[in-house]
Amino acid sequence: MTSGGDAPGMNAAIRAVVRACAYYNIECVGIYRGYQGLMEGDFITLTSRHVSNIINRGGTILKSARSTEFRTSEGRVKAFQQLKTAEIDAMVLIGGDGTFTGGMIFNSEFNFPCIGIPGTIDNDIFGTNFTIGYDTALNTVVEVIDKIRDTASSHNRLFFVEVMGRDAGFIALNAGVGAGAEEILIPEEDLGLDRLLESLKRSKRSGKSSSIVVVTEGEKIGKSVFELADYVEENLPQYEVRVSVLGHMQRGGSPSCFDRVLATRLGVKAVELLLDGKNNVMVGLINNNIEITELENAVKGHHEINKELLRVSDIMSI
Ligand code: F6P
Repeated sequence: MTSGGDAPGMNAAIRAVVRACAYYNIECVGIYRGYQGLMEGDFITLTSRHVSNIINRGGTILKSARSTEFRTSEGRVKAFQQLKTAEIDAMVLIGGDGTFTGGMIFNSEFNFPCIGIPGTIDNDIFGTNFTIGYDTALNTVVEVIDKIRDTASSHNRLFFVEVMGRDAGFIALNAGVGAGAEEILIPEEDLGLDRLLESLKRSKRSGKSSSIVVVTEGEKIGKSVFELADYVEENLPQYEVRVSVLGHMQRGGSPSCFDRVLATRLGVKAVELLLDGKNNVMVGLINNNIEITELENAVKGHHEINKELLRVSDIMSI
């Protein structure tokens, strides 16, 4: 199943799981709409041919959902009954921390084998350097900021660009450095409003005519991105400010080669782990090796942001 926010490369992961199952002669069943479809028994038997021509497609052919009912024990009992009726022996869960938390609880209640594959554009999962979809989202964001830069520089404007990342600044930090942003605001490091104003004043003094500030959705120094823009405009009237909220465009599109390869490797390994009798773990990529992490650690552990990049960004915005 795919669950939670969709991410480019989820289809490549589905394809890998289905084809690895076919390779090892295991019957594979797709569960539609994540845990919601699981509780409703919304299943489809998947053969190799069902996953032809999807490696290049964004979104997820199995659809996705954020289920509130699965958070209740009644919902999980329903889910277990559906699995028993369909004679399903194990699940591969493609998603982020919400998906893995659900899998962990389900496993502890019913001892049902679950393997997690990290799929989220946020890259906020412990036990893998990269989650499926993150690389594609970074490239999308950089491409869009390049375009915003054209109009920012034509009008001598300051742009606040809000990017996704509910609790984590991975997209903002890496896309910000890649797109040459002036300032990058992430939840992991509170730089404060004074520091932001000071930096923008310094930019003006150094002769810059336009600027880009990348703001993580989860970090607005206590303000919405629009309030933040108003605050800066009030305090620095020399700036003409605009806001661009990139939103869900960051989750769409054809996956990058990196995400396709990552998804394929993780999908194959997930099936092989189930065959080896492993359970309740997530597959991830660490230093280009496939490693496994307990689902509990994947959810509770903290994938640290590379703060060195903030320093590099500071040097670049001289
Ligand atoms: O977790 C991925 C993510 O795209 C976050 O960056 C964002 O905060 C959230 O999902 C948005 O979720 P939804 O599409 O349900 O509004």
